[in-house]
Amino acid sequence: MSLNVALLRETFERAKVENGGATALGMSFYSRLFEKYPSVRPLFSTPPEEQHKKLLASIASIVAAVEKPDMLLPFLHAMGIRHLKYKTENAHYGAVAENLVAVLAEHLSKEGEWTDEMRVTWEAAMKTVSDIMIEAADNPAKFQAELTAAGFEPNGFKKNDPRPWVLEGELAKSAH
Ligand code: HEM
Repeated sequence: MSLNVALLRETFERAKVENGGATALGMSFYSRLFEKYPSVRPLFSTPPEEQHKKLLASIASIVAAVEKPDMLLPFLHAMGIRHLKYKTENAHYGAVAENLVAVLAEHLSKEGEWTDEMRVTWEAAMKTVSDIMIEAADNPAKFQAELTAAGFEPNGFKKNDPRPWVLEGELAKSAH
């Protein structure tokens, strides 16, 4: 897949500063998700005020590592396996992807442009991320060696790291 990485990064950087920034984007994500797909609401016990920070940190990690499959694949496989605990179903991924692209479109349209190419780029990125997470959720045993090598437990969590949704590189970046 030839993903427009520059456009993915550029639009994510814009999303963090425009129209109320990442908090506004994250809160819109959950309010639209729960309104449009009410059946997923009971799966969430963490309030949107906290949950959106995790979602945005995971997306920042994905965007940062998009050209580093050695880091990104175990990170996404672990995340897919963790979602089994949250009772996520494969069919939910399309809804979450549709929802993210829709809120991003609205968010970025407020102060600047949102083009078809941006939409295609984000749809492709979300489809790839979803496929990778689902593949691991469907067959966790197949990914155990990879997870162990990357420091994850068999259930996709990390023993000494309460934030397994943040990739080390992204953590280092946000620390300065
Ligand atoms: C693009 C795919 C997705 C990404 C990047 C993502 C990201 C995250 C992150 C970072 C967390 C925090 C906990 C953790 O990492 O273990 C989380 C938790 C969760 N996600 Fe996702 N997720 C995705 C897809 C989905 C889907 C399709 C569903 C189904 C509705 C879902 C439902 C949940 C639930 C229920 C939790 C736990 C919330 C709680 O603590 O109450 N996620 N997700």
